[in-house]
Amino acid sequence: MNPEVHDATGRARGCRRRDDVGVHPLVRVGRPTPLPDAERQAILDAPVFGESFSDHMVLMRWADGAWGPIEVHPFGPLSLSPATLALHYGQSIFEAFKAYAQADGSVAVFRIEANATRMNRSAERLAMPPLPEGAFEQSCVALVDADRAWVPTSDGSALYVRPFLFGVEAHLSVRPANEYLYAVIASPVASYFGPVLGAISVAVEPVDVRATPGGTGAVKFAGNYAAGFRAHGRADAAGGDQVLWLDAVEHRWVEELNAMNVMFLWERDGHTVLTTPPLSGTILEGVTRASLLEVARDSGGELRIDEVVEEPTSIEDVRDGIEDGTLLEMFACGTAAVIVPIGRLIDAGVTRVVGTGDPGGLTMALRSALLDIQYGRTADTRGWMRTVDPADQRRHVGRMSGGNGGRSAAD
Ligand SMILES: Cc1ncc(COP(=O)(O)O)c(C=O)c1O
Repeated sequence: MNPEVHDATGRARGCRRRDDVGVHPLVRVGRPTPLPDAERQAILDAPVFGESFSDHMVLMRWADGAWGPIEVHPFGPLSLSPATLALHYGQSIFEAFKAYAQADGSVAVFRIEANATRMNRSAERLAMPPLPEGAFEQSCVALVDADRAWVPTSDGSALYVRPFLFGVEAHLSVRPANEYLYAVIASPVASYFGPVLGAISVAVEPVDVRATPGGTGAVKFAGNYAAGFRAHGRADAAGGDQVLWLDAVEHRWVEELNAMNVMFLWERDGHTVLTTPPLSGTILEGVTRASLLEVARDSGGELRIDEVVEEPTSIEDVRDGIEDGTLLEMFACGTAAVIVPIGRLIDAGVTRVVGTGDPGGLTMALRSALLDIQYGRTADTRGWMRTVDPADQRRHVGRMSGGNGGRSAAD
């Protein structure tokens, strides 16, 4: 990053001050041609993860050391130079969260301030300009409001929102870009692993590593995911649904899955203990992970979890726990899937069954506890949900002429 584009607080020039939160200029550009109701409804009735997109997208550009306005455009292709810097050197980061149809008919988003913080942490690691304070939340809420007809209402479904930021400068020098594009798109999704939640198998990756100390594993850098694809192919060949990563140094400590954190439920001296690997700098600080730890800690005796601990877990501990029965349940967690029970561990050609191999009772109880908050079926005592209020949106939106007026033209 050029030093002159940040002030002493690390804020990019042109960013709004705290008292301006929520009032970064926001304009609508062009008019979309929405999909006909019947076509949209057919998609919403059976959404396929990441396949269909809503009628709008948000764009916000950074150039000459400052952010432009948040622009709400019709969804459509971007026009980019073949020399776009991110395509060559990978300067690209992203986020993900969901908007949920609430029990009372409104639409609400879950803990997006945590995603906003993580986005700027990723930007800092990749030498990119941070978003203006409040602009992440404002842009995402504006998109969900514009596309509220795309929020599916069937059980377990949601509108998956994908903000991303990449270097768009057309240049081949190996250095941070001098121009960036921030964009937000949205896709209706059903349950990530299909209509019936079964337990998945995870395969311990024997060769590759996902993250190293000092590397990029703790942020949502696009390259982390591409670098995991080869291991995913190996897991698949071994009969696993997902990769279970070990640490890079000793190849011994359990880290996480490709796009989910991992948690364990143990029996220890008559107590039930929930554990998860600590935030060591090589795993992603999942919003779902943090939320589940809080729900489990606050649940008292209700969930029958006596203790919640962030502690390193070795792969030997997992193997031994499965064999002596002290590892009761194991699950993965993340925005896309919420919680997925893990029923099998495939490790050096040996498959071990966790518990009964079926979804565990405590795993499913924790899952329901979080889903009840996200769908507004239980009181949101922690202030995690934010209602997307149309009146609030109208107050801030200006209008600009131009834009593509449809789904197919370039930006
Ligand atoms: C590597 C990785 N770990 C964990 C997670 C879970 O994070 P969250 O709960 O914020 O979706 C994700 C998903 O974003 C991820 O990509």
